[in-house]
Amino acid sequence: MTADPPSDLFPYFRTLNDVPATVNWAEFFGNTQPVELDIGCGRGLFLFNSTEAHPETNFLGLELDYTEGRRGARRLQKREFPNGRVIGGDAHEFLRTRVAAHSVSRAHVYFPDPWWKRRHRKRRLYNEHFVDLLSKVVMHGGEVHSWTDVEEYFGVISGLMNHHADFEVLPAPVPKAPAHDMDYLTSFHRRRTLDGANTYTGCWRRK
Ligand SMILES: C[S@@+](CC[C@H](N)C(=O)[O-])C[C@H]1O[C@@H](n2cnc3c(N)ncnc32)[C@H](O)[C@@H]1O
Repeated sequence: MTADPPSDLFPYFRTLNDVPATVNWAEFFGNTQPVELDIGCGRGLFLFNSTEAHPETNFLGLELDYTEGRRGARRLQKREFPNGRVIGGDAHEFLRTRVAAHSVSRAHVYFPDPWWKRRHRKRRLYNEHFVDLLSKVVMHGGEVHSWTDVEEYFGVISGLMNHHADFEVLPAPVPKAPAHDMDYLTSFHRRRTLDGANTYTGCWRRK
């Protein structure tokens, strides 16, 4: 994260600083549709496709890297989608300070950075605190979906989610075979699948 970027993409892209208090989703999106989060949305392939396919749902991408987040927001802006937005900043902070309890119907976390070096592991998105935050923001009956190509990290994610008192395990989705070259859930899903990597998928329901 660097200095705040220009506001040319407003309201498709804004930073945490532009959202100083708990978000009122109805005001933020201008409607009362359910809200889903794409945490660590990267350049926003999932966000874009979901926003287009489900106009009845609002999608918010959270992305630490402003360049990537702005790239995703630019695609949403080009199509003038009313139900897709990106916030630049740290997802932990956003969930902790800006999201009302049980106000989100789904949280998607796809291909979170694995931080391979042991001394960097504390930078991982998933830890006990993050799962507590998911438990706080996801509504009862809502869902968390998480995919990764890193078997060891999937073990950590499932360990945290499966043993959390507020979540129950749902059947893991099976990634479908792509119908064309861009038919993947996310950019990382595409890149790692073409590299020959496996994908580990998990789905949990907030009790
Ligand atoms: C490996 S990429 C995956 C991007 C996308 N989900 C995909 O599957 O193509 C992980 C993304 O998470 C973002 N990220 C990492 N930590 C984050 C945090 N604390 N808050 C928001 N985004 C974060 C990174 O900047 C990066 O864009």
